[in-house]
Amino acid sequence: MHPFVHAMVEALSEAGKKTRRLNIAKVFMKRTQQLYQRNIKLMFKVADDVIQERKKNPTNECNDLLNKMLNGRDPVTGQGLTDENIRYQLITFLIAGHETTSGLLSFCLHALCKNQEAYKKAQEEVDTVLGSEKLQPHHLPKLVYLDQVLKETLRLWPTAPAFAVKPDKDELVGSKYKIEKDEVTIVLIPLVHRDKKVWGEDAEEFKPERMSAEKFAALPKHAWKPFGNGSRSCIGRGFAWQESLMVLAKVLQKFNIQPHDSSYELNIKETLTWKPEGFFMKVSPRNVLVQETSTKTSPPNSPTQEASKISRGPLYILFGSNSGSCESFANTIEKDATQKGFKTKLAHLNEHTGNVPSDAPVLIITASYEGKPTEDANQFYDWIRKVPDNSLTGIKYAVLGCGHTDWVDSYQRVPTQIDSNLERVGSTRLNEESRSKRCCRHDERTLITGGKPSGTC
Ligand code: HEM
Ligand SMILES: Cc1cc2nc3c(=O)[nH]c(=O)nc-3n(C[C@H](O)[C@H](O)[C@H](O)COP(=O)(O)O)c2cc1C
Repeated sequence: MHPFVHAMVEALSEAGKKTRRLNIAKVFMKRTQQLYQRNIKLMFKVADDVIQERKKNPTNECNDLLNKMLNGRDPVTGQGLTDENIRYQLITFLIAGHETTSGLLSFCLHALCKNQEAYKKAQEEVDTVLGSEKLQPHHLPKLVYLDQVLKETLRLWPTAPAFAVKPDKDELVGSKYKIEKDEVTIVLIPLVHRDKKVWGEDAEEFKPERMSAEKFAALPKHAWKPFGNGSRSCIGRGFAWQESLMVLAKVLQKFNIQPHDSSYELNIKETLTWKPEGFFMKVSPRNVLVQETSTKTSPPNSPTQEASKISRGPLYILFGSNSGSCESFANTIEKDATQKGFKTKLAHLNEHTGNVPSDAPVLIITASYEGKPTEDANQFYDWIRKVPDNSLTGIKYAVLGCGHTDWVDSYQRVPTQIDSNLERVGSTRLNEESRSKRCCRHDERTLITGGKPSGTC
């Protein structure tokens, strides 16, 4: 194990204990405090070394998170992050991301070992979708059963098992419990996730089938909350999901697994997070020769076209993005459009608040966060919703919405609102037909439609 992980686990455990200790006790616990400080210092050093190494050897080959933090500037204030701030971000990501995701995968493999039917179904899906191909991004949306397996695992064993909420005014919860303004309540997620009124009498059992798209969409709003709640909910959710799906698919593609000790009973180790303690597996390679280069190098429906010499005039690409996917789509589209002869202009949506160009087509690419706009689209969003009806004629537009159906109540809210408001103010959709098109629910990228999301293809 990397020394960082050891230091992290010890520091987390002490950080938890500290909150329950009387101040006076600190005077007598010099050694504990020294060890705590030593662990923190080690974590700082690992993060600082990573930062310095990148600064000494800058690369533009991959615009990863570290590059973003080192070079990025806030679109509103123009400020960047200090090295000290980046150090804290790195440590937070390592802590929040490592323990939770590795725990999810461990519980998941344990659950599959114990539920042979689910295991068989999961492996069959991997064999159908991947066969002997090397895993590619376009495979992920097709791993529907694996998605259900992971959801069901986090229902039974949410690896970050609690989150805190506090009301901004006095409230009576469930017509029974008075909670005062700013009073903190800790929500224990495993209890929410095993509520028989919601999940039925078999709530304690591992049944991925209950996480099918239809059943998931029909759940009460707060029934499944392994990533927390509201505006402080997990920032790494999409990343963790993609990573877990990829790891699980690759493991099942290449290996057969079984418990090392068939009499092993699940024992949960609690630090800040949950993990199965003392669970070992026997792993044997399957007879699958994974092709090192995929036969499908580009996903279906992404034609690689020859550069065009035709000149096609300007195209505005306006995006709103917090964590980079919409920005990355905007960059890809810009590159494609330039090759096809457009003179592209790329900008954050906020830069066009009160000023949507009407001299050329406008393509908008943006996302929602708990139903709210991204930081660089918030002014645009507030403005467009207040523009009087039929007062912005002459604009030709299309909206590419990025969203995720896990946010049942606010799926695609911001792109949909922008789309319908532009229509309301008299602008013209470039492609009316696309309104009724919707990609597979498992594909995060969805061309805007209007109407209520159906969650299906
Ligand atoms: C299966 C994996 C994961 C689970 C179950 C999980 C769960 C959670 C939960 C329950 C919270 C608290 C939310 C709240 O207070 O309402 C949280 C917050 C957070 N998570 Fe995750 N997480 C996971 C993966 C990740 C990853 C991979 C990263 C980063 C790379 C990450 C970064 C964060 C951060 C930074 C916060 C604090 C957000 C804030 O306070 O604004 N998490 N996570
Ligand atoms: C904390 C959080 C909240 C989200 N809320 C929503 C939501 O309300 N509706 C939705 O359709 N997608 C939601 N998503 C999914 C994102 O919109 C989606 O991942 C999108 O691709 C992010 O774009 P960006 O990387 O350009 O910021 C949420 C994602 C996160 C991490």
